[in-house]
Amino acid sequence: MPCFIRKVIAILSLFCFSCCYADITLPTPQTRDGMSLFASLKKRSSTPGGGFPVGQVADDELSTVLWAASGLNRGKNGWTVPMANGNSPYVRIYVAGEKGTFLYEWEGHYLKEINNKDIRADIGLQNFTKRAAYSLIFVSDARAFTDINPEQITNFSYTAVGAMSQNAYLAATALKLSTRYIHSIKPDVIIQELELPEGSKPLGMLLLGK
Ligand SMILES: Cc1cc2nc3c(=O)[nH]c(=O)nc-3n(C[C@H](O)[C@H](O)[C@H](O)COP(=O)(O)O)c2cc1C
Repeated sequence: MPCFIRKVIAILSLFCFSCCYADITLPTPQTRDGMSLFASLKKRSSTPGGGFPVGQVADDELSTVLWAASGLNRGKNGWTVPMANGNSPYVRIYVAGEKGTFLYEWEGHYLKEINNKDIRADIGLQNFTKRAAYSLIFVSDARAFTDINPEQITNFSYTAVGAMSQNAYLAATALKLSTRYIHSIKPDVIIQELELPEGSKPLGMLLLGK
């Protein structure tokens, strides 16, 4: 192959690479050892907002909390949280951190990049929320409801957020991370920043820090 063609291909691949979104493979979540469920239940609490720590959360810790919140735990159709009619999770978790915003894909257990903006300071009504290493944003995904009465979507979605956030609280406690559920969010900003499709509704978020 002539040299100049090789150079053109190299330049084109570099261009493509810089345009591509950078998905993140998550480490295998922790599924054994560590603090017992009952010890975690005894310790679970919300970290006070005013003293929320600014420390980094490691990838394996984030991975474990996300898996606890809505990961697969039984083959290809079983999740750590119950979903109506056995549907796949119709509340999705978006992860906002310093490096950008991502969608947690339980199938494949990875983070799909949405943008490379740090939106943490823009999405909560309380100032302290920006200090958390990660905000896990719960978003109801209307497209994922295949066989559910539309009137039930909101109820079922909030029920899912309860289960998901409690699992995340317990996993975070077991990992000695700080966490706090936040309902006071800015849905309009989130819809815009996450480029959410029609029918998606931000419901709340969980701060994660150390
Ligand atoms: C539905 C719900 C909404 C909440 N919204 C907020 C909020 O917007 N801001 C906040 O600082 N804490 C919020 N919290 C955290 C509660 O204030 C906290 O869970 C409560 O004070 C009890 O403390 P504990 O979790 O340590 O038991 C919320 C909790 C729940 C369950």
